Amino acid sequence: MAQKNAALENILTRTSVRSYTEQPVEPAKVELLLRAGMAAPTAMNKQPWHFVVLDTREALDRLVSANPRAGMLKQAPLAIVVCGDMTKALEGKAREYWIQDCSAATENILLAAHALGLGAVWTGTYPIEDRVKATTEALSLPEHIIPLCTIVIGYPKGDEQPKDKWKPENVSYGKFGGKK
Ligand SMILES: Cc1cc2nc3c(=O)[nH]c(=O)nc-3n(C[C@H](O)[C@H](O)[C@H](O)COP(=O)(O)O)c2cc1C
Repeated sequence: MAQKNAALENILTRTSVRSYTEQPVEPAKVELLLRAGMAAPTAMNKQPWHFVVLDTREALDRLVSANPRAGMLKQAPLAIVVCGDMTKALEGKAREYWIQDCSAATENILLAAHALGLGAVWTGTYPIEDRVKATTEALSLPEHIIPLCTIVIGYPKGDEQPKDKWKPENVSYGKFGGKK
């Protein structure tokens, strides 16, 4: 079954990386990560996002207390805060598509990081109110910019291995519970 394909291989071997060397991430790679994020699909192509790049010790440290589960920020050289821009989001109920749009961008950035030899982890912000508030304050975000998550990035220190999550019981065919 397993056909060799670089893109698939990259998807199947990505894993969360939470410890990093001191090596900074090159600006050209940072731009590639951002380009990957912006290549994601969005509802009606609204691209309702804004990315805040944290690449100085001072900026990274400011965010450490915003998420109790993002302690890895303390020794990371880079983070990208993925935010929704409500001035670009759809109206009414469809406004909530910003979460899916920004999640797609986040996964693209994680995959691009892995492809570039970097390690990264998604740390959740929205909808946890105190994390949203703390991130908003730390980054001086205006009211229309909502932080979805912080992607912490760096060159991996260890050798984290991907988890095998293949579970055929999570799949149905034709209707719920349907078997092949
Ligand atoms: C919405 C979301 C929020 C997450 N928040 C955190 C977090 O705050 N801290 C953290 O260390 N990992 C966080 N993660 C990473 C997950 O723990 C990780 O993806 C999961 O354990 C599966 O491992 P894998 O990424 O290596 O496949 C988050 C992932 C998602 C999708």
